[in-house]
Amino acid sequence: MSDISLGVLVSGRGSNLQAIIDAINDGNLNANIMLVISNQENAYALERARKAGIKTIFINPQDYPLQQDYEQQMVSQLEANNVELVILAGFMRILTPYFVNAYQNRILNIHPALLPSFPGLHAQKQALEYGVMVTGVTVHVVDEGMDTGPIIMQRAVDVLPDDTVDSLSERMLKIEHQIYPEAIAQIIGHMRPVGDL
Ligand code: GRF
Repeated sequence: MSDISLGVLVSGRGSNLQAIIDAINDGNLNANIMLVISNQENAYALERARKAGIKTIFINPQDYPLQQDYEQQMVSQLEANNVELVILAGFMRILTPYFVNAYQNRILNIHPALLPSFPGLHAQKQALEYGVMVTGVTVHVVDEGMDTGPIIMQRAVDVLPDDTVDSLSERMLKIEHQIYPEAIAQIIGHMRPVGDL
């Protein structure tokens, strides 16, 4: 059985990317990362990818004033590298219907809340400000809405009385690193290449 080809989109430190790389290297995820695309030239995620011997591409948003042109560039890079499943790992740019349609039902995202609670930015801060006692992590398929696509996997995280955004985020991140490779493995189990059974 051949491995599914992944493309990972990043903007920042890339700890989730690292968790995926580690899961592949440990034999827990049957996939290959074909390339990592960043919209930030200095994203540490790019460094992590290079260290792992993965092809990286920085696509500068300033070169593409129109979002659709930017996304066309991403899609052509993903297609040129035979990417079958797109993984958003801290990619801080909203995707338009153009991109979502190009990889329909084949884009995953991880969000640091139990969706549909606390979508959008600063989910941990939203949870603390609301005063919930339990929040968590969601992996979902990306559709045209903001953090609205079908949920693949969720895991709860208790909010402790003294939690700050940092302490809560740090605890949640450990769960993110467990759940994202697991959720990707689950999806891959449903999308084995035809003729490869
Ligand atoms: C994570 O908290 C993830 O849930 C959110 O963006 C952050 C990315 O962190 N979507 P990292 O770049 O993977 O370390």
